[in-house]
Amino acid sequence: MMMSRGATRAARSVMGHVGPRFFSTATVRGGAANGSATGVVGASGLLGVNPFMGSERTTVAWIRFPVMGVRKESTVALGDKDEHPEKQAQTGGASGAAGGGGDDKAIVSYWGVEPAKVTKEDGTEWRWHCFRPWETYQADLSIDLKKHHAPVTFLDKVAYWTVKSLRYPTDVFFQRRYGCRAMMLETVAAVPGMVGGMLLHFQSLRRFEHSGGWIKTLLEEAENERMHLMTFMEVSKPRWYERALVVAVQGIFFNAYFLAYLASPKLAHRVVGYLEEEAIHSYTEFLKELDKGTIENVPAPAIAIDYWRMPPDSTLRDVVMVVRADEAHHRDVNHFASDIHYQGHELKSSPAPLGYH
Ligand SMILES: [Fe+2]
Ligand SMILES: [Fe+2]
Repeated sequence: MMMSRGATRAARSVMGHVGPRFFSTATVRGGAANGSATGVVGASGLLGVNPFMGSERTTVAWIRFPVMGVRKESTVALGDKDEHPEKQAQTGGASGAAGGGGDDKAIVSYWGVEPAKVTKEDGTEWRWHCFRPWETYQADLSIDLKKHHAPVTFLDKVAYWTVKSLRYPTDVFFQRRYGCRAMMLETVAAVPGMVGGMLLHFQSLRRFEHSGGWIKTLLEEAENERMHLMTFMEVSKPRWYERALVVAVQGIFFNAYFLAYLASPKLAHRVVGYLEEEAIHSYTEFLKELDKGTIENVPAPAIAIDYWRMPPDSTLRDVVMVVRADEAHHRDVNHFASDIHYQGHELKSSPAPLGYH
């Protein structure tokens, strides 16, 4: 017991002395807007290797204030922007949409976990906690949207007709409410990447072998789909029964896809490939409705403008265009993954298309 207390005291002493020094001696790249900010080794070490950061488009400073305090104070900080600049400086001024709540109670950071303050190249704050500037990209709109994998084998036909049969009830349920449809279907679209990535992760652990980058690729896909959801929920709000439907569908689809992937990854990836083909079709119909004027072409949500590096005057139509391009990339990745299995290989034997957007 005495030994334990002694060890704890020693650890606190080390944290108390080494921690602050470690997190405060490096200088902030590009000059942080906040005078109270101190740079960290992590900032230069982690971000220095990133080409986006290397081009000085953003600056990062780590503030000596509790991380939870910043996240929970975000909305308050936004509202106080003009009236209390000093408070803004202390909290890092994160936006409410970036993942905060309304609680302005500061939490003491005993663990040395520091909140990051990220600014854009023009010195304005980076609003989002859920993704960073170096995780954004410009969609490749030149991708061929018409590509289709013709189902030949028995498993291909199972995958194809499974997806086709799922289309009918969704058409009946959503009719032409494409905004709502997009939001709801993105809650499903973000499941396969997470399940596949998780299973490959565990497989890598069990077998003591590399994944060839496929874990990361599939998790990237899941995150990308989730960002589609974060975008569409800005233009369409779910009703209570739609939320209930999402809970039910997630419970069923997660388990079904989990079992399908365990049984046959080539079938699972083929199913996703066809799902993505249907998603492209749905977004094309969405665009037609926007062009006809039956759906109002509202300004693009701020999160979309930052995530896809879109011009500030972008509209919902532009957002649908980039989302549709993302779906085409998912289509290619998943059909490709299925093809690898069909050719008798495992995914790890072919380098994963990391960052393929
Ligand atoms: Fe999506
Ligand atoms: Fe997708």
